Amino acid sequence: MAVCFFVSGCASTKSSEQTINTEQHRPQFHFSPPSNWMNDPNGMVYYQGEYHLFYQYHPKGNTWGPMHWGHAVTKDLVHWEHLPIALYPDSLGMIFSGSAVVDHGNTSGLGTKENPAMVAIFTSAGKKQQQSIAFSIDRGRTWSKYEGNPVLENQGIDDFRDPKVMWLEKEKKWIMTLAVADHISFYSSPNLKEWRHESDFGADIGGHGGVWECPDLFKMPVAGTKQDKWVLLVSINPGGPNGGSATQYFVGDFNGKELVLDEQFQQQLSITTHVPSGKVFASFDGKEFGGWRTEGSAFGNAPVAGTLPNQHKVMGYFGQGLVNSYHQGDQATGKLTSPEFEIDSDYINMLVGGGRHPEGTGVRLLVGGEVVRKATGNNTESLNWLSWNTKELKGKKARIEVFDNVTGGWGHILVDQIILSAEPAKERKEAFWLDYGPDNYAGVTWANVPDSDGRRLFLGWMSNWLYANNVPTTIWRSAMTVPRELSLQQTQEGIRLVNLPVKELQKLRSRSITIKQETVNGTIDLSQLYGLGTPLLELDLHLNVSQAQRFELKFANTKGEYLSVGYSIENQELYIDRSNAGKIGFSDSFPGRHSAPLKVENGELKLQILLDVSSIEVFANGGKTAMTEIFFPNEDFTKTEVISTGTTEIKKGKIYTLKSVWKQN
Ligand code: FRU
Repeated sequence: MAVCFFVSGCASTKSSEQTINTEQHRPQFHFSPPSNWMNDPNGMVYYQGEYHLFYQYHPKGNTWGPMHWGHAVTKDLVHWEHLPIALYPDSLGMIFSGSAVVDHGNTSGLGTKENPAMVAIFTSAGKKQQQSIAFSIDRGRTWSKYEGNPVLENQGIDDFRDPKVMWLEKEKKWIMTLAVADHISFYSSPNLKEWRHESDFGADIGGHGGVWECPDLFKMPVAGTKQDKWVLLVSINPGGPNGGSATQYFVGDFNGKELVLDEQFQQQLSITTHVPSGKVFASFDGKEFGGWRTEGSAFGNAPVAGTLPNQHKVMGYFGQGLVNSYHQGDQATGKLTSPEFEIDSDYINMLVGGGRHPEGTGVRLLVGGEVVRKATGNNTESLNWLSWNTKELKGKKARIEVFDNVTGGWGHILVDQIILSAEPAKERKEAFWLDYGPDNYAGVTWANVPDSDGRRLFLGWMSNWLYANNVPTTIWRSAMTVPRELSLQQTQEGIRLVNLPVKELQKLRSRSITIKQETVNGTIDLSQLYGLGTPLLELDLHLNVSQAQRFELKFANTKGEYLSVGYSIENQELYIDRSNAGKIGFSDSFPGRHSAPLKVENGELKLQILLDVSSIEVFANGGKTAMTEIFFPNEDFTKTEVISTGTTEIKKGKIYTLKSVWKQN
């Protein structure tokens, strides 16, 4: 029978609700498992009125262990019904993260068109990580593993996991987005059983402080335009902006085969902070190629001062000119060969852009006529630093060749600033983060949400691998974020992914309080003024901080413990500080102050904040910057103060006390 704790109309008794859901730190409106360990959300799919949530689950322990898929459903994104475990480990290994789809066209033959199968695509983690499938023809209630598992075998790479699958209607094929160590691989399939490698993305761009995990790929409109863009979510651990686990995103176009980043987005991701020092071998700033020899017509007969006719803007080159093989467009081919030189440095660094065709367009180093190093572009007109380690080649005579043999799309190459250095070129890899807080990881979006709804709905795991196994909760460990709606917004800096709590959560609002004060200069005790007295709150504030140095909210208890959430005008940052928020000793990585860069225009700061016993989610300026953080006070934070250093104007101030999803209060 389904275990069912807190759904109205559910068969559970009042006493089971009370014993199970009132433990210290137990979230009151976030999803958490009834008992034991949970990590990533998995298999998120909507079907016949239910949003399914499967999750990484260890049913026998309160720390990570043999992974199963736990299961729950919600009809309203607020109240959840727990269901029995959906997938158990088998001879291929544990059941790691993955996704689920509804196979409406019965491409897999595992259901029928009338009663399509729900198909889960997950990582079998045994000796190797490989991808397997399982299916259900009874709305996810019972599951069978496919007998032909694995459907995608490991190619000898340790980290090869977390398949997220989507249907491409135009091409009539499934696309699997898979995390492979430090990059994403895209695979396609007509039937969910046979998969073909399409392309790789990301080894050289974005955050790379840790392993890439739990990706998601989807298309969505850019708000206020007729344009659609593709978003790729990639979780990374460690390497997050505030330490440990975090989720980054990319914006571009997916053409059924590969993801091509939005030009401006790409440019912003590759800000070069450091031009390597050393001997400039070629700067391509003059009126001719010097001793370099050209063949064919693609390279013209001199460096180019940037962009050629009919070419998108070329960016990221150094000085006045560069090598650009777009003469006569993509059709032309050719080669540019350097004079012979002796390799006398540990590294050869250069800027490279243009077409990504490993054999067709690129740059290579030849010693004695043999290719010893080579590289290609990345299907972008932005140049990025490339470094060849040449320690072992020192003393050898060499030539550099820039070649363009491709006549079709992206049939050109860009090269600039070849520097012989003692050091590799260092690029500051920027990343865009879905959430800057330390506790929103491995989040993905629901598949199969009806077009009539049209939203892109997201849920993340509210913890961090730095301390997830040690957080001081019994009898369960971890909760999910609230469901959030993602959207793409055109901002002054470019297209950004925005996230906000789903509107369904508004039905938890109990009392609605309007803050009467128009300005704060000093401290106001909101809980006393308005008789709040609950750790379940939503705050919606529209502020003007142009006359302030700092604006802060303080959530506190009677034991002198508190959590601070604020905005520093001086540092232009949003921050959360949990250094004094109760239990912090279980991990050195836990206490601290975490921040997110946030510029305010004309002092306008909007904050939407959800407080739930042991977590806080902060959405600033319409969700353009989000921060999620967990904490463990020894007594609930029922006291709320606002503090302003300098004067903060409260243009709109709303507080809602919230109801628990488990019992009426
Ligand atoms: C991410 C992750 C996944 C993996 C799962 C195992 O948190 O490491 O990559 O599938 O957890 O539980």
